[in-house]
Amino acid sequence: HHILVLHGPNLNLLGTREPEVYGTTTLSDIDARLRTLAEQAGAKLTSFQSNHEGALVDRIQASASDGTTHIVINAGAYTHTSVAIRDALAAVTRPVIEVHLSNVYRREPFRHHSYLSDIAVAVIAGLGAEGYCAAVRFVLQQPA
Ligand code: DQA
Repeated sequence: HHILVLHGPNLNLLGTREPEVYGTTTLSDIDARLRTLAEQAGAKLTSFQSNHEGALVDRIQASASDGTTHIVINAGAYTHTSVAIRDALAAVTRPVIEVHLSNVYRREPFRHHSYLSDIAVAVIAGLGAEGYCAAVRFVLQQPA
């Protein structure tokens, strides 16, 4: 497996951003945990964060030719707005796991719709940083 983990806008602020909603774990802590999980299973894991929609689209397109087998994505607010990210994910045809730290369904109504969920294999919301680990463990259980 070669797992690409994508983090959208404002997730670079994890640890200090609304800790009561998003927890105190930093993004680099999360990425390090995920890399360890993958390496222990003999898999490869690459992480990428951007605050820019087009940069995320470019990175998703690149995943079509860099050996990526699965994509784990927390698109942040772009989850609720971005047809472009959805179309890029659909174009590269890699299995997608959508992750949200918070339970978006107990929050504002504008967070209840995702442009990604119906093209995702699974959606995880509300488990905090553990949700990313659950997504990676799930991928590692899939046949290579
Ligand atoms: C989020 C939920 C989104 O609604 C929000 O815009 C984020 C983070 C989450 O991980 O809970 O930036 O994706």
